[in-house]
Amino acid sequence: MTNISTKRHLITAALPYANGPIHIGHLAGAYLPADIHARFLRLQNKDVLFVSGSDEHGAAITLRAKKESKTPKEIVDQYHQLNQKAFEEFGISFDIFHRTSSELHHKTASDFFKELDSKKAFTKKTNEQFFDEDYNQFLADRYITGTCPKCGHEDAYGDQCEKCGSSLSPTELINPISTLSKKKPVLKETSHWYLPMQNEEAWLKDWIENGKLNSEIHHDPKKWRKQVIGQCKSWIDGGLHERAMTRDLDWGVKVPAENADGKVLYVWLDAPIGYISATKQWASDHGKKWEDYWKSEETEMLHFIGKDNIVFHCIIFPIILKKHGGFNLPTNVPANEFLNLEGKKISTSRDWAVWLHEFNEDFPNQQDVLRYVLTSIAPETKDSEFTWSDFQARNNSELVAIYGNFINRSVVLTHKYFDGVVPSIDESIEGFSEVKNQLETLSKSVSQKLENLQYRDAQNEAIAIARLGNKFLAEKEPWKLIKTEQKKVESILNISLQIAANACIALSPFLPNSSQKLAEILNMASFTWENLGKVDLISNGQQLNKAEHLFSRIEDDIIEKQINKLKSKSESTKTEMEETEIAPFKEHIQFDDFVKLDIRVGTILSAEPVKKSNKLLQLSIDLGIETRTILSGIAKYFSVEDLIGKQVQVLCNLPPRKMMGIESNGMVLMAENSDGQLQLMQPGSSVKNGISIS
Ligand code: 2FM
Ligand code: ZN
Repeated sequence: MTNISTKRHLITAALPYANGPIHIGHLAGAYLPADIHARFLRLQNKDVLFVSGSDEHGAAITLRAKKESKTPKEIVDQYHQLNQKAFEEFGISFDIFHRTSSELHHKTASDFFKELDSKKAFTKKTNEQFFDEDYNQFLADRYITGTCPKCGHEDAYGDQCEKCGSSLSPTELINPISTLSKKKPVLKETSHWYLPMQNEEAWLKDWIENGKLNSEIHHDPKKWRKQVIGQCKSWIDGGLHERAMTRDLDWGVKVPAENADGKVLYVWLDAPIGYISATKQWASDHGKKWEDYWKSEETEMLHFIGKDNIVFHCIIFPIILKKHGGFNLPTNVPANEFLNLEGKKISTSRDWAVWLHEFNEDFPNQQDVLRYVLTSIAPETKDSEFTWSDFQARNNSELVAIYGNFINRSVVLTHKYFDGVVPSIDESIEGFSEVKNQLETLSKSVSQKLENLQYRDAQNEAIAIARLGNKFLAEKEPWKLIKTEQKKVESILNISLQIAANACIALSPFLPNSSQKLAEILNMASFTWENLGKVDLISNGQQLNKAEHLFSRIEDDIIEKQINKLKSKSESTKTEMEETEIAPFKEHIQFDDFVKLDIRVGTILSAEPVKKSNKLLQLSIDLGIETRTILSGIAKYFSVEDLIGKQVQVLCNLPPRKMMGIESNGMVLMAENSDGQLQLMQPGSSVKNGISIS
């Protein structure tokens, strides 16, 4: 298994598109867990390299440039700087935050392509692709939207559906529309380089499911998150297809081949190679060998990403690396689910987000609070939610009332009773061995959870050390003993300070700023992870520095201000969006097609959740002449009580479809708001069940 011989650790965090600012969803998804992991390894004096950078190519950038009437270069320069500064202020400890527009990256990606091409990794094919005649342009990826063939989401992009995470090709979309002219595009011939992924299914499956690569054990599949393995399995089982690795675009890495004018590398080929070029830049800046981090068997590689990036990191990039040859594949890909905000999906276009650069400005020196909250609610196994009131509560009742309070009392009392000089301990004092055992157990548990990439649980165990200290002091009440039993007070405070030092180390990967402050207060010259769990971290006679509050209360007005800011900004973009985001009309159909639809009114008699599905509800609907079972993917939007007794419109002549073992016989019609919320289409007044709508 790799970890026996692991010497080096390469940590990558998804390269964010330089087309907008970073928000808390990005942080919780990739950057914060990656940073915690990097800090955890560095505290063990491990050789670790943590890389990321701006993803500056692809339609995501050129479309943004068009929207802001700027050049793509202006856009990437603007957001690269904004995001780099925001990450730095927030304390994400990248060793390098590189750029894919750099010369080094262009050369690296171009050479990579050439090597793949020379190894016959691609097939070159001419076929028809969507073309916008008004704009005289082929429509790559995000230049085209339409209905997702997998989940029915109406705003899926040509390369991906953001609702269900499926990776798509533009011709799969139902009712494709050009985002440039808002018209239906035409098909036109063009040539591209394709990666035939269907030939790679067997080894990929063995590698993902069993951790085996070239018949050697490469990783432990039990350590991979279930949903990552699940997603990969379902893609592979559904059959992989060829995928174009080049695009007709004038922004990106030029295709280094003949007859490739106006063609660039597909952004999802070039972006992950960005991890390699970032490593090369860092290595050349620090006199190191980049190959040590990519080609040595002694290096472990972790890709931190959000769930929408799983296919690219677990299927496409590994295929590319293997075809090229000589590169390691990732040891693990800890992908997170999504973080929602105040009950809704985070949305850049609707300005429904907490932006990192704004947080840094509004909460200077309170980065650790956001780190703490985001890790407490980390979407490791399922989507989770950030609310400002929870942010306030976790700060006030956990960081301030437990951790901060314990540290402050321990240090203030040591100053008050012993002039800040650490008193000695009589180890036979009641409660000491219990504290010692608990510290050992908690420390082991924090390490274990961090090694298992379970950051949420790891932080819980680390903060439990502060809880232990707070409880110990509250029970021992040294302030009541100081006049009569000074010796006992000496031991109590010594033990408290040892607990404080342990909390300082254990919480350091999560709350680096407060740990640094605490280390200064406790006068711990330096600390390493090795010391965690020990009870002699602070020596007798050591002089403490002045007490300082690690955290301060956040009052209601601050929280209200943030909620108002969120709502007012989103309101103003909403009006703008609603004007522009109404979907264009679909193309004409024949009247005969319309009359084929059997739409009727029915009453929902019962609704119940479907086992093992968080989306589906099983509805029983009275359609006048019969009662039907219909499954509807609306569990997130309606409670059972919202539905029972309501009249709805039902499309009755869809063929029966089995989902989760239950047969569904029709579809309930819904309206979808611009913010993705669904509404029932109810008749204005009560209508007889079974009546047709025409
Ligand atoms: O989804 C995104 O934001 C992409 N820019 C992530 C790229 S990750 C890596 F492959 F570069
Ligand atoms: Zn979809």
